[in-house]
Amino acid sequence: MKILMVCLGNICRSPLAHGILEHLAKENGLDWEIDSAGTGSWHIGHKPDRRSIAVAKSYGVDISSQRARQFEINDFDRYDFIFVMDENNYKDVIALAKSQEEKNKVKLFIPNGVVPDPYWDDTQFDPVYHMIYEQCQKLIESLTKKN
Ligand code: 4NP
Repeated sequence: MKILMVCLGNICRSPLAHGILEHLAKENGLDWEIDSAGTGSWHIGHKPDRRSIAVAKSYGVDISSQRARQFEINDFDRYDFIFVMDENNYKDVIALAKSQEEKNKVKLFIPNGVVPDPYWDDTQFDPVYHMIYEQCQKLIESLTKKN
């Protein structure tokens, strides 16, 4: 399974989703390829936000070696699923899709919900971590369920 996590800056939310899903996939013995990207270009090459690094570290997940990159058109070919954190990310990624097949790969990470951007509020990193962790667990369950 190849999964891409997308948010706006690729420094707060999607690095957490990337790191947590990678961690859980490894725990479950799954050989999945996981990455993250931002729709914006401001933070290309930067480490995740120090608050995301810190909250992940406090729960045993190391995201410090990640570096931000921008979403690119080729990502539609490279990944089975492209999970976006909010409606704006959805709109921005869908706008780059060239076919219905590409559009179908793009999904809100939380079905019918959003992961709020914690960038301007230090207190939101912990709840956002838990929100992402719970959804990553659900994702593993649903994508490994045998029919
Ligand atoms: P993210 O949060 O999309 O979760 O990485 C943001 C990080 C930076 C900015 C916006 C959102 N920014 O405007 O620089």
